[in-house]
Amino acid sequence: MDVEAVEPGEEETVRRQEEARTSHWWFSKRGPKFLSPIFRLMDPALQRVKPYIKKGQVVVDLGCGWGYDAFELSDLVGPEGKVYAVDLGKNAIQSIQKKIDRSGRRNIEACASSASELGFIKDRSIDFVFANGLLCAMKYYRPLAVDEIKRILKLSGKAYLTGGGPPFGYLDQAEWENIMQGFNVERGGSYKENWAVVSLTQ
Ligand SMILES: C[S@@+](CC[C@H](N)C(=O)[O-])C[C@H]1O[C@@H](n2cnc3c(N)ncnc32)[C@H](O)[C@@H]1O
Repeated sequence: MDVEAVEPGEEETVRRQEEARTSHWWFSKRGPKFLSPIFRLMDPALQRVKPYIKKGQVVVDLGCGWGYDAFELSDLVGPEGKVYAVDLGKNAIQSIQKKIDRSGRRNIEACASSASELGFIKDRSIDFVFANGLLCAMKYYRPLAVDEIKRILKLSGKAYLTGGGPPFGYLDQAEWENIMQGFNVERGGSYKENWAVVSLTQ
C-alpha cells in the first residue's frame, strides 16, 4: 500500500500542507463553493444513500466540503437525529457554521478535523458515514481514516465510500480492494464502479 509516511512531529506541517492543497480547485480537492451545487446535480451519491438514512439517525459527512450534502442529510435524519459535518478545510467549516447559525439548525455540528482523528466521536455511535470523495482526496493517513470509520460505526451501521486513483486521486486499485476486503460490501465495491456501501464484518 503506497501511503506516504509522516515523521513524528511533522503532523502539523502536513496538516497545513493538506489544508493549502485542498483550498484550490482540482479533481481530488474541494472545488469552488459556487460550483458545488452544480457538481452535486451530476453526482448520484446522495441518491444512492438516501434509502439507508432514517429519521433519528446519527450520520457523519466525512470530507463534507462546503456542506451541501450535510444539510440534506440533516433534513433526512430530522431534528431528533444529528449530522457531523467534518472537513479538514477550516474555510469550508467556517462557511458551514455560518449557514448553521443563520438557519438555526440544531442537528448539524461542523467540525474542522482530519478524517484520521475523530476522537470527538464516540466508538460505535454512528449509523451512517457518508465519505463521498474523501479517501481519494487524502494524501496521508488513509488507513487511519478507514480505522476511524470502523471505530465510530455502530455494529449495524453502514458507510458510503468512494475511490479514485492516479492521476487525480490517491487511492489506487490495490488499496481500494484492500479497503473493500476489510468490510462487508453491500452495494457496488469494484474499482471500476469506484463507490461502495459497506458495513462492518462481525
Ligand atoms: C473531492 S472533495 C469532496 C467534497 C464533498 N464530500 C462532496 O462530495 O462534494 C474532498 C474533500 O475532502 C476533504 N479532505 C481532504 N483530506 C481530508 C482529511 N484528511 N480529513 C478530512 N477531510 C479531508 C477536502 O477538504 C475536500 O473538502
